[in-house]
Amino acid sequence: MTQFTPILCCPVCRQALIVNGKTVQCNSRHCFDVSKDGYVNLLLSGKPGEDKGDNKEMARSRRDFLNKGFYQPLAQAIGECAEKYTREGDSVLDICCGEGYYTDYLTKRFFGSRAFYGFDISKNMVRLAGKRRCGADFFVANIANIPVQTASVKMAFHLFAPFHAAEFSRILSDEGVLVTAIPGRRHLFGLKQALYDTPYENDEKQPDAGSLVLCDTLRVRDEITLSSQEDINALFQMTPYYYHTPAGGMARLKMLNHMQTEIEFVLLVYRKG
Ligand SMILES: C[S@@+](CC[C@H](N)C(=O)[O-])C[C@H]1O[C@@H](n2cnc3c(N)ncnc32)[C@H](O)[C@@H]1O
Ligand SMILES: [Zn+2]
Repeated sequence: MTQFTPILCCPVCRQALIVNGKTVQCNSRHCFDVSKDGYVNLLLSGKPGEDKGDNKEMARSRRDFLNKGFYQPLAQAIGECAEKYTREGDSVLDICCGEGYYTDYLTKRFFGSRAFYGFDISKNMVRLAGKRRCGADFFVANIANIPVQTASVKMAFHLFAPFHAAEFSRILSDEGVLVTAIPGRRHLFGLKQALYDTPYENDEKQPDAGSLVLCDTLRVRDEITLSSQEDINALFQMTPYYYHTPAGGMARLKMLNHMQTEIEFVLLVYRKG
């Protein structure tokens, strides 16, 4: 766990958490173990989201797919936001970090000059993120109650996950920004053409951002080529279509071992209102 600009707070009493050997603890001695994979479970109520969403196998397949660089243009765009909105020593938080691909990219790009944190409700995901040993602090937590001090984050980013405007706004510093991504109109159109008789473009619906104020928008576009059934299936599993596609579309997809598709993301940058 990194020890500079510590932003984590105790999920019980909200005092700062300090690293102490293989634990993190607050002044009131609430103590949380750092796992052998380097992450800490700060989720108090309910069980971590082990089985909701991605299971272990899907989490690994997501990691392997992203590690091949298919979404690197998005990682680069997040990096450009970090160049623009953060300075040396600032804290950057990956909200719903999944298996940590984007934070891993950022830690390499910024060589220890920022403090990177990431959390997700899924222990399967956070375990994989911890195993990356990229120098970021990863923890298990829920977006409804983020164990991070108020006004401590200079840039938070949030990709393809549930939105919680009030908590996101609370953790941002006065100059802080939240960067979120929504799928662009043509995102994965090639995949949709394989799955559906009449594919529709995405509607680019923005999240309900509460008091957060939209201050910048950035579009990222590229075309990717998948040349194995394994990569096509990994991409399919990462999408909401995985849960809603009729059998005919699934069968068509299984026949493919080559696919070209556009990827398109719209990055929305919000400030505190
Ligand atoms: C589609 S994945 C995106 C992961 C990562 N941002 C990426 O783009 O690779 C959505 C993630 O949101 C997480 N998630 C869902 N509900 C959550 C909650 N209430 N609090 C924290 N994480 C949550 C899931 O566990 C999952 O890892
Ligand atoms: Zn405490």
